[in-house]
Amino acid sequence: MLSPDQTYQLLRALTSPIVAVTSAQDGKRNGMILDSAVRASIVPTVPRVSVYVHKFNYSHDLIFKSGRFGLHLLHTQQFDVIHKLGFFSGRDRDKLAEVPHHLGATGVPVLDDCYAHFECRVANVMDTGSSTCFLGDVVAVGFGASKNGAPTGEVMTAAYFRAHMSPDWRKTYEALLQAAQRFAEQHSRNIRAVTWPGVSA
Ligand SMILES: Cc1cc2nc3c(=O)[nH]c(=O)nc-3n(C[C@H](O)[C@H](O)[C@H](O)COP(=O)(O)O)c2cc1C
Repeated sequence: MLSPDQTYQLLRALTSPIVAVTSAQDGKRNGMILDSAVRASIVPTVPRVSVYVHKFNYSHDLIFKSGRFGLHLLHTQQFDVIHKLGFFSGRDRDKLAEVPHHLGATGVPVLDDCYAHFECRVANVMDTGSSTCFLGDVVAVGFGASKNGAPTGEVMTAAYFRAHMSPDWRKTYEALLQAAQRFAEQHSRNIRAVTWPGVSA
């Protein structure tokens, strides 16, 4: 039998590329970082993604209330965006003030620089106790502003990020991860039956 740590390390192989997830609600704009995004449909005419967002994150309530989010594949030169959006909460600072962006067709912030971006409308949710899994219909797609209609560079994978992040950031990253793990450990068993209310706006 594997130890919980060995199991966790094996499951790390299932983490997604690093993505930036943006949201907007009642004049507030925010962005965060995820490595829990997956393609959630095999049907080209029904493109879908899913993301897991912890309930303590500011983004969680913005996405839940607005029913929309922007998902950005990043390229391997975007460590600064990961640090700005993934190491601090939007409750404490206007993170997107430091990241060039514009509003997309659905009103979510779209980062000017990225590998590719997807604007999504929430189709359904699943409560995990500590987080919500948002299933999103992809309703608009594009590339970074300077990419001339095609992605360039390499996608920032979770493995690439972990192998190349600045040593200065690693200690903070590990501390934030451990705090999130403690929260998840406390709340993961308390799963509620949540019915997605639909988009109100
Ligand atoms: C590499 C990396 C991966 C992350 N993956 C997730 C994730 O899958 N789900 C999640 O809820 N938070 C994840 N986070 C943490 C959030 O990005 C972080 O808590 C952020 O500060 C939330 O911002 P907010 O409070 O403004 O929403 C990740 C952070 C990093 C750096």
